[in-house]
Amino acid sequence: MERSLVLIKPDAIQRGLAGEIICRLEKRGLKIVAMKMLQMDKGLAQRHYAIHEGKAFFNDLVDFITSSPIIASIFQGKDAVNVIRQTMGTTDPAKSLPGTIRGDFGLDIGHNLIHGSDSLENASKEITLFFSAEEICDYHRDIDKWID
Ligand code: RTP
Ligand code: MG
Repeated sequence: MERSLVLIKPDAIQRGLAGEIICRLEKRGLKIVAMKMLQMDKGLAQRHYAIHEGKAFFNDLVDFITSSPIIASIFQGKDAVNVIRQTMGTTDPAKSLPGTIRGDFGLDIGHNLIHGSDSLENASKEITLFFSAEEICDYHRDIDKWID
């Protein structure tokens, strides 16, 4: 079963869209195994987005993601990494299909509401950045026999 790191970004919290975003991922069948609210500091933001260091948008991205609290979470399920990326929509909300989170609620690439890990390898690295092993709940859901 795959796990992916999902961040509900500052714009989504400020706009009151956290519940809607969590709801969509839950209804998809994905299981929440960790969740917490925090405000990212510069160091964590730079580590999380290290792959983008040096790009023109990097400083704006770090400023934005540290500007206000986020919800960090781990969602688990079959093919979770790809399923979450599809449910999110493409990076630029203006190009995201209606029916996706970014396509339904976003307009601007710098305010795209949600982060989801883009590969299993990065999911594993990102999960370690945000959560200790004790913060991750490994539990059984009876409904999983109807989903998996
Ligand atoms: P994220 O990492 O936040 O889930 O987003 P993503 O995978 O869809 O996009 P990524 O390429 O990883 O870019 C990270 C964030 O940087 C901002 N960005 N701005 N102005 C630009 O050309 C540009 N490109 C990327 C976006 O806010 C994106 O979420
Ligand atoms: Mg990314």
